[in-house]
Amino acid sequence: MAMPSGRFFGWVIGGTLPAALAADWLTSAWDQNSGMRFATPGTVGAEEAASAWILDLLGLPSSADVGFVTGGTMANFTGLAAGRQKVLTDVGWDLDRLGLTGAPRVRVLAGADRHGTIDLALRYLGLGAPTLVDVDDQGRLRVDALAEALAAGAGPTLVCLQAGNLHSGAFDPIGAATALAHEHGAWVHIDGAFGLWAGASPRLRHLVAGYETADSWATDAHKTLNVPYDCGISIVAHPPALRSAMGMHASYLVHDEGPGDPLEKAPELSRRARGVPVWAALRSLGRSGVAELIDRLVGHAQALADGIASIDGAEILNDVVFTQVCLGFGDDERTREVTRRLLEDGAVWMSGSRWRDRDVLRISVSNWSTDDADVDTSIEAVRRAAKRD
Ligand SMILES: Cc1ncc(COP(=O)(O)O)c(C=O)c1O
Repeated sequence: MAMPSGRFFGWVIGGTLPAALAADWLTSAWDQNSGMRFATPGTVGAEEAASAWILDLLGLPSSADVGFVTGGTMANFTGLAAGRQKVLTDVGWDLDRLGLTGAPRVRVLAGADRHGTIDLALRYLGLGAPTLVDVDDQGRLRVDALAEALAAGAGPTLVCLQAGNLHSGAFDPIGAATALAHEHGAWVHIDGAFGLWAGASPRLRHLVAGYETADSWATDAHKTLNVPYDCGISIVAHPPALRSAMGMHASYLVHDEGPGDPLEKAPELSRRARGVPVWAALRSLGRSGVAELIDRLVGHAQALADGIASIDGAEILNDVVFTQVCLGFGDDERTREVTRRLLEDGAVWMSGSRWRDRDVLRISVSNWSTDDADVDTSIEAVRRAAKRD
């Protein structure tokens, strides 16, 4: 599949910045198992520089731990594992010694439109399915519904918020929801697989207002930041909770004091230095380049939505605030037919889905190389597919 193409808009698939690709090749050639700073100070140094830049760019606490994982799924897992550790420790339960059997129940609240990997991470963690909180027409968690859900129970609690809804691109009201959850002593985790990067754009920062008060954040570098697969980023504001959840100590290893070793911040012991391509991406773009990249992706999404809105029978179903566009063409059958014809045409790739009880065509603008010509070509391709015979 031509995923690196600027006209590939399926799922949420980032492209590859040239510097990140080159750094990824070097990372493979160097073959450094980067779990311990003592053993691989070069690659770990690059990763730590990238970590500091990420926290600075996103405006997240500089004391947070950053771990490089395989993707958003494992970043969600890592943040929620740290949260599980903290909320159980806070009620006096020794999770490491006793496990979950007999532990106080950890309740987990998440918006009804959360990404499925939240459920997956909770399964890995033995926490079961989340209690779902009502969302609005853009898929944003409703703060009043969260207030009700929090008041309906007690005990150790995790609240999962979303920065960037897969279908609408919408952001939960993060600041208000986090403040409320903290009043109830809950740990707040934010799934920002592609949307957390809004925080690196002065124009879009308002979408994540207040997110710096959360406890853990998950994002991908292989989506909006455009480094090669596979690279996700876990950020946790409470290093002791994360390191007791993920760390492993053994006499044959060489442990570093102080800032902690990478092996304490990610699920793996052995690990490729997947943060090096992140370093290269950030070094090549600079602060303003990252903001421009994100603004450009969003600008293209809005241009695609505007262009497609002018096509007879096409309907844009979401407020295009970020990189995702959801559209329909009348009834489900017609939407499926337009999708089929579009893929057969071959000029662009967009994926079908189902959202809010209807079939939709999804556009995810996640590739740095998409340009104005790709946008025009794509609008014309949709126009051809939507033309009635
Ligand atoms: C909001 C959200 N969370 C999590 C994920 C999972 O990320 P990954 O596929 O990198 O594991 C995705 C993937 O599209 C996503 O959109």
